[in-house]
Amino acid sequence: MLKFRYRIFGLMLIVFLTSSYCEARSNLRTKGLDGYCNKIASCLAMTTTTVYPTTETRTRTSFNKDWKFFLGDEPGAKSPAFIDAKWRKLTLPHDWSIEGEFDEKNPAKPEGGGLPTGIGWYRKEFTAPANFESRLITIEFDGVYKNSEVWVNGKYLGKRPYGYASFSYEISKFLKAGKNIIAVKVDNSAQPDARWYSGSGIYRNVWLTSTAKVAVAKWGTFVTADQSGRVEFQAQIQNKTLKMQTVVITNSVFTASGKLIASTIQQNVKIDTSGLEIDRVFDVKDPVLWSIENPYQYTLVTKIVQNGKILDSYETKFGIRSFNFDVEKGFSLNGKPMKLLGVCLHHDLGALGAAVNVRAMERQLEIMKEMGVNAIRTAHNPPAPEFLDLCDKMGLLVMDEAFDMWAKKKTKNDYHLNYPEWHKRDLEDMILRDRNHPSIILWSIGNEIREQFDSTGIAITKELVGIVKNLDKTRPVISALTETDSTKNFIYQAKALDVYGLNYNHKKYADFPKNYPGVKFLATETTSALETRGFYDTADTVRRWPRDGKTKFTEGNKEWSASSYDNVSAYWGSTHEETWKEAKKYDHVSGLFVWTGFDYLGEPLPYPWPARSSYFGIVDLAGFPKDSYYMYQSEWTSKPVLHILPHWNWETGKSVEVWAYYNNADEVELYLNGKSLGKKSKQKDDLHVLWNVNFEPGTLKAVSRKNGKDVLVREVRTAGAPAKIELIADRKNIKADGKDLSFITVRILDEAGNVVPNADNLVDFKIEGNGFIAGVDNGFQASLEPFKANYRKAFHGLCLAILQSTEKAGSIKLTADAKGLASSSITITTK
Ligand code: GAL
Repeated sequence: MLKFRYRIFGLMLIVFLTSSYCEARSNLRTKGLDGYCNKIASCLAMTTTTVYPTTETRTRTSFNKDWKFFLGDEPGAKSPAFIDAKWRKLTLPHDWSIEGEFDEKNPAKPEGGGLPTGIGWYRKEFTAPANFESRLITIEFDGVYKNSEVWVNGKYLGKRPYGYASFSYEISKFLKAGKNIIAVKVDNSAQPDARWYSGSGIYRNVWLTSTAKVAVAKWGTFVTADQSGRVEFQAQIQNKTLKMQTVVITNSVFTASGKLIASTIQQNVKIDTSGLEIDRVFDVKDPVLWSIENPYQYTLVTKIVQNGKILDSYETKFGIRSFNFDVEKGFSLNGKPMKLLGVCLHHDLGALGAAVNVRAMERQLEIMKEMGVNAIRTAHNPPAPEFLDLCDKMGLLVMDEAFDMWAKKKTKNDYHLNYPEWHKRDLEDMILRDRNHPSIILWSIGNEIREQFDSTGIAITKELVGIVKNLDKTRPVISALTETDSTKNFIYQAKALDVYGLNYNHKKYADFPKNYPGVKFLATETTSALETRGFYDTADTVRRWPRDGKTKFTEGNKEWSASSYDNVSAYWGSTHEETWKEAKKYDHVSGLFVWTGFDYLGEPLPYPWPARSSYFGIVDLAGFPKDSYYMYQSEWTSKPVLHILPHWNWETGKSVEVWAYYNNADEVELYLNGKSLGKKSKQKDDLHVLWNVNFEPGTLKAVSRKNGKDVLVREVRTAGAPAKIELIADRKNIKADGKDLSFITVRILDEAGNVVPNADNLVDFKIEGNGFIAGVDNGFQASLEPFKANYRKAFHGLCLAILQSTEKAGSIKLTADAKGLASSSITITTK
C-alpha cells in the first residue's frame, strides 16, 4: 500500500497544493543553504512538478540468510580463500549459547546463565547489490554479542565491543562484481562479563542497505512533536559524490492511513561534500495524539530529487504527544495524569535465548499489557530496534537504558574495559538510533553505577548528560540510583539529572519530597520478590533471601523453589504487595518499574547450582504467569479480576491459606464442596483476602460480588492422577515466513480435565509439516534440560513447545506423548 502511495505521490502533491499546502504553514528554514525558495515560489514550482519515476531509490534488505557458522577460533576465516564447506549453515539471528549445555563450570557461571560462551565465526558469500559502484552500500548489524570484528573480501572494517550497540559499515569500495565474502568474528570468551545471561553471536538482525550517494544519512532524521501539533523536523543529507550537488527536497507528512496532510518543498538546494542539515516545522491541525490507548503514528517522507529522478525516499515514523514529570503530581501523558506501571525486562526470550524474534518479543509485551503494564525499562542496555517498534505500536512507554556500568566494573570482564574508548560513541548511537520512537520518554545513562559512591561520578554524569542533551533535549535524563544519602551520592550531586531514579528503598518514597525538595521522582527499580510458579509455602513473616549481605543463604528448600504466596524477597527488595502499597500511595511517585516482568536467564539468586535463571519474574521463563500477575491485574486494569490460589491438592486436614486477588467487587465468598467458608472484603490497603481452610478434597469455589450481584466465579478442583495431555496454541494461524511462532502450552490433565498441579511427566514431541521446534521450556529455574530439544518434563503441570514456521506454507502438526498418558496433537496453519 505504501509503495502505491509513492507512485501517485507527485500527483497527490499537485492536488494537495491547490487545497491545503498553504494551510500547512510550513516554516522553511534551511541551515547553510543559499538558494531555498520562499513559500509562494515553492507553491508555484510544485504545481508544475511532474510525477516522479517509481524506481526503488533506497533498498534495505534482510541479510540474515545463508550464513556459515563455526564455534571456535579460526583466524584464517577472514581470508576470502578460506574454505568453510564443513561449517554449519544457518539463518540469523543466532545465539550459540542457548544451544549449549548447562554446566556449572561454564565460564559465564550460573549468574550468566550457566551456558557456554567462547569465540565463534560467521561467513557469508553474497552478490553485490545492483550498480554498487555508483551507490553507497552499507551493512548494518542491529547487535552482535560481543567484540565483533568484520571483514569484507579480506578487508578489515572494524571492531565493535559493546554487544548491545547497533552499528554499520559502508562497504561499497570493498565490493566487486560477482562473489563477495563477509566474515565476522565474535568474541565472548572473556568471562564473566555480565550479571545476567547475554547470549553469544550475531543475535540481532543484519541488513544490507543500498542508497544513492546523495541520500539521507544513517539515523539522519529527528522529529519532535508536541500535543499542539507542532512538528519539528531535522534531516542530515549526505553527499558522497566528491562534488557539489543541486537537488530538490520535499518533506511530506502522512497520516496512518496514508493521507498526505502537510508538505514542504525546497528547490535548488546545494549540498556540498560535507553534507547538509535541513530543518522544517509543520503544524498538524487537530493532531491524533499518540497514547497508551491509541498509539497513533504519522509518517514523514523525505524525498531528494535531481533532474526529475528520485535519489532517495526515506521514511520517518513519529508520534505526536506531550508528557511531563511533575515534582508533586508525577507523570502525565498528553496532559492526563497517570502512573508509570512498569516492569524491567532483560533482553533474553527464554528458551530462544538472545536471538531476536519479533513474535517472541510481541508475546512478552502482550502478556505484560494484559497485566496492566504501560511502561517498560530496557534493563540495562539498549534493546533490539524491533522491540521499540513494538512499544510504539502497542502503546507502551519506554525507559531506554544505556549502561549497567561505567568505568568501574561489576564483573571482571564487563563493559568497564571498553567504557573509556567507547562510551561516547555507544551512548550517541543509542540516542541517534532511538530518538524518533514516540514510546521513549526517558533516557537512562546507567543502572546502579558504582561511580555514585565516589566523586568521579560528578564529572562523568555531567559528561553523559551532555552527550544526550546534545542530541535530544526533549526527553529527561535519568539514572537508576541506590545510594539514598544525597550528600554521598555523586551522580545526584552532579545536579545534571532531570528525574531522580531510585531503586528499591520503598519505605523512602514517603519522605522523598521532604528530603529532595523540588526534585522529580521515579521508582526506577522495585521489589525483587522471589517466586516459582505453582510452588506454595506459607510463612508467618515475609522472608528475605538472602537475609543480608553477609549471611550465607541456607534457608529455602530442596525444591530450588520460592513460594508463590508473595512472601519472599531479596533483602534489598520487598514483596510485590509491600512495594505497590507504597508506590500507589503517593502522587509524587511518577511510577515504578518492577524487577522483573519475566524471569530471565542468569542471576538465579538466592539458590546455588543447578539454579540458572532468575526467580524475580511476575511471569516465568516459559511465559506462564505466577499468581502475583493477578494482583497487578486487579490493581492496574479495570477489567474484572478474580484469582484464587493455591491449587487444591493437599493432605487431608492440612491448614491451607487460600488467597483471592479481586477487583470491581465489594466482597468474595469462598465455598468448599458447596459449603460457605465466609465472605471477605479487602480492608484498608489490603491487596488480597485470605481464608485458612482445613483441606478436604473437592471443589473450592470463589464468587466475587458487587451490590449483592455475582461478578465472577472461579473454581479449583482437586485433581486426580495424570491421564492425558492438552495442547493449547496461542495462535493457530501463523505466517509462513520462516520466523513466525506458535507457542503451545502443554497441560497435564486428570481424567476429568483438571490440571494436575504437581505433574512432572516427561513429554516427547513429534513434529510434522512445515515447521520445527524452536525451543521447549517449563519455567523451572533449576531445570538443566536443554532448550533446543524435542522433549521436556512438565513442571507443576505445564510445559511449553515453541513452533516456528518455515517459508513453505502449509501446516505444522505437533504430537505430544508421555508414558501412561493419552497423547494429543494440534495442527497449526501457516500462510
Ligand atoms: C538490582 C539490579 C538488577 C538485579 C536486581 C536483582 O540491584 O539493578 O540488575 O541485579 O538487583 O535483585
